[in-house]
Amino acid sequence: MTTGPDSRNPFPGNIDRLFAHCRVATMANGTYGIIENAAIAVSGNKIAWIGPMNALPDSLPGKIEMTDCNNLWILPGFVDCHTHLIWAGSRSEEFEMRLAGASYADIANAGGGIFSTVTATRAADEQRLFDMASRRLSQFLSQGTTTVEIKSGYGLNLETELKMLAVAGRLKQAFPQHIEATFLGAHAVPPEFSGRSDAYIQEITQVILPKVKTQGIATAVDVFCENIAFSREQTRQVFDAAKDLGFDIKLHAEQLSDSDGTGLAAEMGALSCDHLEYLSDDSARKMADHGTVAVLLPGAFHYLNETRVPPVRLFRQLKIPMAVSTDLNPGSSPVFSMLPILNMACLRFGLTCEEALAGATFNGAAALGMTARKGSLTPGRDADFVIWDVDTPADLCYLSGITPLKQVVIGGQTVYLPD
Ligand code: NIG
Ligand code: FE
Repeated sequence: MTTGPDSRNPFPGNIDRLFAHCRVATMANGTYGIIENAAIAVSGNKIAWIGPMNALPDSLPGKIEMTDCNNLWILPGFVDCHTHLIWAGSRSEEFEMRLAGASYADIANAGGGIFSTVTATRAADEQRLFDMASRRLSQFLSQGTTTVEIKSGYGLNLETELKMLAVAGRLKQAFPQHIEATFLGAHAVPPEFSGRSDAYIQEITQVILPKVKTQGIATAVDVFCENIAFSREQTRQVFDAAKDLGFDIKLHAEQLSDSDGTGLAAEMGALSCDHLEYLSDDSARKMADHGTVAVLLPGAFHYLNETRVPPVRLFRQLKIPMAVSTDLNPGSSPVFSMLPILNMACLRFGLTCEEALAGATFNGAAALGMTARKGSLTPGRDADFVIWDVDTPADLCYLSGITPLKQVVIGGQTVYLPD
């Protein structure tokens, strides 16, 4: 496969870097797209050319920094489209409670769960939150994740929601990864509004959301639609307000029960619906009709010891793109790497390795509305990729306990080399 903007003159400008003698899984359109004995030419922050070495023109324009990849594999950097990376406090005692028989909902209903993280996050100042989140984001970089969505949702009041999103903004400045911030004020009913969830929804739609918009600190709005959180009608109100303000929308849906939040979100044009263990056939059809991405979160399924899996066969039949994400958070998915998530997606949800890798790259980008820039290696897309010392891409889903990562490149720059 030789691709370039113009086959007679495939190089639109100078080439800055050439990654030669590699094996590539482009993940274009969500399939491996393997090119053996390949080269990737980078111009500025973009991929200028990708193809087999023997199709590479003899002379390339520009002063080129050459990297010999020694036949190692290159895949797109992981796109983690669903994380709650900013929080304070610890919830490991809840893990022990669940091992002793308590459920996630029991703990939430008793005032623990999300509320315990809310208390700690409200108490932490911005600098402390930034320092803790920085360590997590550095860890993601060392694991090959180059694009990260980060949600608020552990503030549940104006001050702390804005503080969390300000931290996300500072992370954007401080880290090479691409970050997309999402407002998740409707994550739980805060204690001050206990028994008055409609009043909290009003606070979100009339006070908090307009502020988030004015400050330009988030691009999307998420809601947790569930019997322990918000109803379908409340979800609709938040989405209406969000859409009026020009935000993208997405939903935590059908994780513990079926509230048909997904049907609503799909009809309202959501980018993605996430979790989906209890999704009905009807709602799945609505996702297919509206091009909604299914974001699978096997980490939460695994850590909550759930038994009901999302309807993967139906997703395949209906050609609904499946993304795969860490859902990194302190309660249901304390997972700081995409690698174990790939393994869980295969073993717990029955994805093929190709589907899992597509979920963590191309379809992760689709869940963020970013396939034109992220998640696959084709000319014109951002030069965000990882060099892996593996025998096949499937090893990334198969091996455990090692991170066979050799180099992370973002926007054409080498941003991480392991010690
Ligand atoms: O995606 N389901 C709701 N929200 C998160 C969990 C948040 C938490 O437990 O702190 C999730 O699993
Ligand atoms: Fe989540």
